[in-house]
Formats: sequence, structure tokens, C-alpha cells
Amino acid sequence: MDGKFPYSDKVMDHFMNPRNMGEMDDPSAVGNVGNPTCGDVMRLYLKIDGDTISDAKFKTFGCGAAIASSSMLTELLKGKKIKDALKISNDAVAEALGGLPPVKIHCSVMAEEALKSALEDWEKKENGDKK
Ligand code: FES
Repeated sequence: MDGKFPYSDKVMDHFMNPRNMGEMDDPSAVGNVGNPTCGDVMRLYLKIDGDTISDAKFKTFGCGAAIASSSMLTELLKGKKIKDALKISNDAVAEALGGLPPVKIHCSVMAEEALKSALEDWEKKENGDKK
């Protein structure tokens, strides 16, 4: 290695200065996901008003790419309609970050899975299936 990290400036920025990190009081939905291979875990909190995601926060115990992916995901989600949020893929997260090295693509997949998990949680609550 030539002393430079193999990450885009955007990845480094979101890793060093994560956006929307922390817990959310009274979230509308929570998504949890873990990667059994690397042991990293991600939790995504969403505040949903009507059909729009008004706020998103995350807590990730994981690698730098996972933290950057979570941070970017929350930025992509804020203000999005649910139907548009459903279309956000790991590719969209990685692309918004200016790309990820191939061995780190699974970190952006975790972000997509956390989103799916949160939206499933929200759907369950919407259907009156509260625990
Ligand atoms: Fe596990 Fe990045 S190495 S999420």
C-alpha cells in the first residue's frame, strides 16, 4: 500500500464524520442486521410521517465501509417516500459513496438489508401487528 487508503474521499468523509449517528427516540421502525462472517452489526431507525421518511439514524458496530454505508443510507433516506426508499439498493449506496472496493461491497449490502428490515418492521406495525 502506498500510504493512501483504498477508499474514495466520500467514503472517508462519511467514515470520519458520520451523518445521523446515534439512537432515535420513539422511532416508527427499526431495522437490525448482522453479518455472521465479519461479525459487524447495523441498526437503522426511521421516523415515518404518512408515506414519507422524515428522519433516519443509525448505530453501526462495524468496519469503516459499514459506517460510511450507514451514514450515506440515512442521508439518502431522509425526505424519501416509502415507495422510493424501497428501490434503494446496495449499489445505490455504494455509488453515492463513489464506489467501494470489491471486498467491501458486502458492507453496503448490510445497509440495504438494514433498510429492508426497518421497512418490514414498519409494515408489521402498520398492519397492527405490534409486539
Ligand atoms: Fe463487515 Fe464491513 S467488514 S460490514
